[in-house]
Amino acid sequence: MSTHKAVHHGDAAGSTRRGFHLIVLNVLGAAVTFAIAIPTLVYLLFPPKGVKDNGWLDAGDISQLVPNDPVELSFQKTRMDGWRLVTEKKTAWVVKGEDNKVTAFGPQCTHLGCAYHFENKQFVCPCHNTFFSIDGKVTAGPAPRPLDQYLVKIDGNRLQVGELKKSVA
Ligand code: FES
Repeated sequence: MSTHKAVHHGDAAGSTRRGFHLIVLNVLGAAVTFAIAIPTLVYLLFPPKGVKDNGWLDAGDISQLVPNDPVELSFQKTRMDGWRLVTEKKTAWVVKGEDNKVTAFGPQCTHLGCAYHFENKQFVCPCHNTFFSIDGKVTAGPAPRPLDQYLVKIDGNRLQVGELKKSVA
C-alpha cells in the first residue's frame, strides 16, 4: 500500500519536473526565436539610413590654390547600393583662374577616358597624345571635345562639387 503511494508520488514529481523542463525549453525557444526574428525584421522592414545626397560633395579646402596652377583634388561619394553603403573615390582637376573663378574638370580624357595630367601649362593625355589648354579646350590630338566640367560652388574656403557635365564639341 505504501509502495503504491510512493510510486504515485514519484510519478507526480516526475511529471512536475517534466512540465517545468518543457516550460523552460519553450521559454528558451521563444527567446532564441525573438533574438533571431527581431533583427531580421528590423533589417527587412527598415532599410539602412541612406546618405543625405543633396547632389554636392565636399572636395576640400581651396584657399591655398594658386591661380593657373591646377591641383588634382580627390573626394568621396557615398551612395546606397541595394542595402550596402558604398564609398567611391572621385577626383577633379581644379583650376583657379586669374579672376578667382574656380573650375573643376572631370579626371578623364574625352577621347577614350584615360587619366591625364598637368605638365608645362597644359593638360596632357598620354594615351594618344591629346593636349588640352588650362581652360579645358583641345589644342592638339584626337579628343573630340573639351574636358568635362563639374558644377561647382564655393562654401567659405571649401569647394563643393556637383554633377559632371559632359562638354560639347
Ligand atoms: S584617351 Fe586621351 S588621347 Fe586617347
